[in-house]
Amino acid sequence: MPLYLPHFNLQNYNTLASPVCADFFVSVKDEEELQAAIKFAKEKNFPLLVLGGGSNIVLHENFPGLAIHVQLLGKELVREDDEFYYVKAAAGENWSDFVDYCLDEGFFGLENLSLIPGNVGAAPIQNIGAYGVELKDVFSELSAVDVKSGLSITFTPESCQFGYRDSVFKNALLDQFIITSVTFKLGKKPNLNIQYPALQAALVGYSPQEITPELVSQVVCDIRRSKLPDPKQIPNVGSFFKNPIITPSKLVELQQTYPDIVSYPVDETRVKLAAGWLIDRAGWKGRELEATVHAEQALVLTNPKRLKGTAVLALASAIKEAILLKFGVELEQEPRNYP
Ligand code: FAD
Ligand code: EPU
Repeated sequence: MPLYLPHFNLQNYNTLASPVCADFFVSVKDEEELQAAIKFAKEKNFPLLVLGGGSNIVLHENFPGLAIHVQLLGKELVREDDEFYYVKAAAGENWSDFVDYCLDEGFFGLENLSLIPGNVGAAPIQNIGAYGVELKDVFSELSAVDVKSGLSITFTPESCQFGYRDSVFKNALLDQFIITSVTFKLGKKPNLNIQYPALQAALVGYSPQEITPELVSQVVCDIRRSKLPDPKQIPNVGSFFKNPIITPSKLVELQQTYPDIVSYPVDETRVKLAAGWLIDRAGWKGRELEATVHAEQALVLTNPKRLKGTAVLALASAIKEAILLKFGVELEQEPRNYP
């Protein structure tokens, strides 16, 4: 059985490199070990911190409970029909490696999601997205253990209630389920999505025959490397805020003062702004307090001094205040704070 390690420093288990401790830490490799860990926490009345790659959490103080590092591994083709392969991956599989595996096998649809840090099990939590594709576009079902009953439950796309950087697991079912595997519905033929502006721009000059899923993946990786810091070198959690959703009339008002403001239509009543543009335009790009606003992408806050998460939260709070004052727009934090 795995060891329950007391007073465990989580600095190497979160990409912000926050040096905080959990009262106890355990790594689980199968469902039996996961069930045992849940039981251990219940008996001691410990809150749970479910850890994947730690790339979307802000640990600001010691965690008074049990951190469970989900390391269930394995991937398999579970079935196929005329159009799709259904590929199941265990929660502890590294996301980026899984994307590469699917490309190699000719399971298409994940190419725009190349190089996103973290593990498969966390991907549905915020419905990860990049370059015009979200997890929900390729999702078939997932299995998760109910923390209260210990039962394993299957979730369909509808029951996950996916939204922009959102799912039922961040709302009504917060902290109630631990995801053990996710099944994806992947095309037998490529069906490329290259509308995202930066992707489109990078593909100018290629003939339609040259634009393959492999090329799209390569280009996405190149764009990401050009602006997003590698957490191993400069600790960060990717975008620190969601892109805010506003009304079309608020956009018209902002356009009077800022005609070049970046926006994307969502539907008839909603428009999305680029939070990175707002922070950049407000003069925060490259600014340093204890934490830093990344010089290539103002939506990314970094923690070069490897301080506790409180450092980055102080910077985030100053930015939120400045954006509200300048644009009248409220920013919402994307990564989750613990404890
Ligand atoms: P963790 O940080 O370990 O956990 C995140 C949340 O999910 C926590 O609340 C945790 O408790 C919960 N959780 C984790 N595993 C499970 C499980 N098995 N069951 C239940 N709950 C679980 N995100 C995007 O959407 N698009 C991007 O383009 C993107 N780019 C990024 C770039 C960088 C450089 C970085 C550092 C992050 C980026 N992110 C992006 C954010 C992050 O990669 C994703 O949110 C990712 O899915 C987090 O995975 P993780 O395993 O690291 O999750
Ligand atoms: N921009 C600026 N200045 C900046 C940053 C951005 O002007 O400092 C402008 C860009 O020029 C562009 C627009 O803002 O016109 C959008 O920038 P970008 O294409 O880099 O994407 P983003 O909106 O900042 C979102 C996601 C990323 C995802 C990319 C690509 C959110 C919160 N973030 O970033 O996801 O990789 O699009 O799809 O939706 C994450 O969630 O952690 C993450 C990195």
